[in-house]
Amino acid sequence: MSGSPLERLEELRAEAARGGGEARIEAQHAKGKLTARERLELLLDQGSFEEWDAFVRSRPDPAAPDAPRPLGDGVVVGTGTVDGRTVAVYAQDFTVFGGSLSEAHAQKICKVMDYAMQNGVPVVGLADSGGARIQEGVVSLSGYSSLFLRNTLASGVVPQLSAIMGPCAGGAVYSPALTDFVLMVEGTSVMHITGPDVVKAVTHEEVTGEELGGARVHAEKSGVAHLTCADDAHCLATLRRLLSFLPANNAEDPPRRSCSDPADRREERLDAIVPESPNQPYDMKEVVGMVVDDGDFLEIQPRFAPNVVVGFARLGGRPVGIVANQPMVLAGVLDIDASEKAARFVRFCDCFNLPIVTFEDVPGFLPGTAQEHGGIIRRGAKLLYAYCEATVPKLTVVTRKAYGGAYCVLSSKATRGDWNVAWPQAEIAVMGAEGAARIVHRREIAAAADPAAKEAECIEAYRERYANPWLAAERGLIDDVVRPRDTRPRLIQALERFANKRQSNPPKKHGNVPL
Ligand code: HXC
Repeated sequence: MSGSPLERLEELRAEAARGGGEARIEAQHAKGKLTARERLELLLDQGSFEEWDAFVRSRPDPAAPDAPRPLGDGVVVGTGTVDGRTVAVYAQDFTVFGGSLSEAHAQKICKVMDYAMQNGVPVVGLADSGGARIQEGVVSLSGYSSLFLRNTLASGVVPQLSAIMGPCAGGAVYSPALTDFVLMVEGTSVMHITGPDVVKAVTHEEVTGEELGGARVHAEKSGVAHLTCADDAHCLATLRRLLSFLPANNAEDPPRRSCSDPADRREERLDAIVPESPNQPYDMKEVVGMVVDDGDFLEIQPRFAPNVVVGFARLGGRPVGIVANQPMVLAGVLDIDASEKAARFVRFCDCFNLPIVTFEDVPGFLPGTAQEHGGIIRRGAKLLYAYCEATVPKLTVVTRKAYGGAYCVLSSKATRGDWNVAWPQAEIAVMGAEGAARIVHRREIAAAADPAAKEAECIEAYRERYANPWLAAERGLIDDVVRPRDTRPRLIQALERFANKRQSNPPKKHGNVPL
């Protein structure tokens, strides 16, 4: 130890910055992973990181008085800025006790979370941890409980983003799971409740960590991961991009940007994008890309339930949440996974004042025993609940089909849609022409001399009468029928009109969303 207080300060800072030491840092790099401090440097604006609690250590253990008590205790926390806006951050340091969570480690994270909630700034957590610090037993478990409580209390108050950049196992997975977005790094991150050894012991299944809880599995099968990234640098850049769409807290509007893409840009290709045959698919992502500012769309959960597309974009510089049926996948039908994916996204947008723009081309809910027995009734109800509950501006463009219950669910006028319009080729009806004609005209068709010809005639008559936007327009159930090419300017005008929308739900402790 050196003599002067200034030297002592420098010495301790250098010690804290060394983390678990050169060898462990090298091992971290050899796995393709950056260290906690390197990650924060990439996440935050240059030079903006203000570290807190660098000198915190764990308590001495009377049973092991010589056990090391490294400075910082395996997590680097503090504040910094992203594009000039303050964020609270923590990054687990795998080089110190494998980033495992102890009492002191948990207290450091809780300190920045409390700050974030009181001051209305987003929290970004970078997870890379062996879980509960084994040496601390129940005290470390209690540390997790303190985190879970704060994740829950902060939900809907400030955006919470989690990046999984290494192991995240056991109950530890529930902290990211309680946050708004989970990003995973391909090849180096895993999330699972019980690891491969326990799985083998209990179920006799042989599975690797990657197969059990790697980025691909959570992006495609479980839906736990909202985004996956090629490496640490890509992940940190994606966090920055995601934050650019979000307000700092629930009392703030999302950050508006100046926009060089003209607000009155008319996209003529949209007039021809919907095929003549109602059963022919087209790519709804192309529609979204042509409408939003500069075609810039950050898709969320792109590989999970791709029959519905959700994500962030801007219109006239204002951030919006996009929900769109995707006719290219399962004809854009709503199933359990699509309903839950879109419901969570709609609720996020509603928490954080992001207007919701819905592009609708939906033939209905997916039929079949797998869906019915899987709970499409209660799980599809989540999406209905989410749209009904949402009080942010809700703008809907029916590009083609809006059938049955799915019409009601997707921000219909009667569920407080603010601006609902259809393209001229839209079909807003109880069901498709074929099914409807066969039910309504069953006897006539059966009795006809030529049943096939009669059926075709009935289908055509039904289509003329019902499979169009005009009945809905007559009743005011859509506000207008717009030319597809005018969609962008009309949406931007509508956003402007509803920018000061104030609507509230009846006072209650909280609703009972069908979980
Ligand atoms: C204390 C730990 C630790 C832990 C790892 N280390 N996990 N120290 N508590 N939970 C230490 C190791 O001793 C080692 O120290 C260093 O971190 C790196 O670990 P390695 O095993 O060498 O690294 P690697 O081979 O990459 O394996 C990483 C790992 C593995 C997969 C995370 O360490 C592992 O399985 N750890 C235990 C995971 C676990 O079961 N945790 C408890 C889960 S239950 P040295 O000094 O050698 O560098 C849980 C409950 C949460 O977390 C409950 C919340 C409600």
